Amino acid sequence: MKQTVLVSGGAGYIGSHTAVELINAGFDVVIADNLSNSDMSGVEGVRKITGIDVPFVNVDCCDTEAFRKVFEQYEFDSIIHFAAFKAVGESVADPMKYYHNNLLSFMNVINLMREFNRHNIVFSSSATVYGEADQLPVTEQTPRKPATSAYGNTKQMCEDILRDSVNAYESLNGIALRYFNPIGAHPSALIGELPRGVPQNLVPFITQTAAGVRECLSIFGDDYPTPDGSCLRDYIDVVDLAKAHVVAIARMVDGKSKTRYEIFNVGTGNGVSVFELVRGFERVNDLKLNYKVAPRRPGDVVAIWADTSLANEELGWKAERSLDDTLASAWAWEKHVRGL
Ligand code: UFG
Repeated sequence: MKQTVLVSGGAGYIGSHTAVELINAGFDVVIADNLSNSDMSGVEGVRKITGIDVPFVNVDCCDTEAFRKVFEQYEFDSIIHFAAFKAVGESVADPMKYYHNNLLSFMNVINLMREFNRHNIVFSSSATVYGEADQLPVTEQTPRKPATSAYGNTKQMCEDILRDSVNAYESLNGIALRYFNPIGAHPSALIGELPRGVPQNLVPFITQTAAGVRECLSIFGDDYPTPDGSCLRDYIDVVDLAKAHVVAIARMVDGKSKTRYEIFNVGTGNGVSVFELVRGFERVNDLKLNYKVAPRRPGDVVAIWADTSLANEELGWKAERSLDDTLASAWAWEKHVRGL
């Protein structure tokens, strides 16, 4: 029988790419999103790429009664919960916005899954839970550090809510995927990242600078204790990341989980510096980027990248797309958005 997956936040960046990969793998998908940080273009992109009129429900997952109707209407047994706010700086300035939205929506998911006897949940977690790790690369066993933002705290708290819920309620299976730095866009350039306002993340800032929307990229710090002085991150292609969700869902659907709650790092295993990324972008896309070195950004960790052995071995998943191809896709998407 065909399995249906509810993708909350499926109009957004990672959610839309995951909806496409789920459909490619033979799942039916229902997208639920309140479009608070996205618009219908993500859903339309998914429909165009797959040729399927994917159902979309405009719903706020914090609105329990409205969200319950989605459970009443659709027979999904699995959920991927993306719907959350994700701007680190904003979460420090307005923590209650983050605690309210990110925690309440997730608690609603768990409660409704219990009420309607739905079984499998993938939670969007983040490498942010590791903070400044004592040892690199980080494995899933690397101790979490106290969160330095409300955003990071909601990721840790939701992981704990999921762990405790799975331990207590036998009907539930959960997987938390800890994303490293998702970048790039679908090869069709029909879906990608659509930041509102000034981009907070590196790659959207790079592509907007290349497109002439921003004047100059600031590289936040060149005096870190790293080979070239800039921070190191593990940049994971968004399509590869999307595929990790598909195997996570399939693992639970097929009853292959080793324990009912599991955690996997989703990265490439490579630490790449800001300078390397910028130069790679210039080389692959054959352009020059206007950039300057600026002071360090408060709160940045110096370096983090993933040990991906567990995902490689247990999920049979591995990042496949090269960084060059990913950086080319990011630029192709920006050009599509700008009509260049
Ligand atoms: N950077 C710049 N200039 C910019 C933007 C970023 O130099 O204009 C640098 C940052 O200082 C950092 C690197 O590029 O060294 C990556 O920064 P991003 O903002 O793209 O990503 P982060 O690693 O800070 O953040 C990501 C996710 C968050 C998550 C965080 C911690 O976007 O959701 O990792 O795991 F919380």
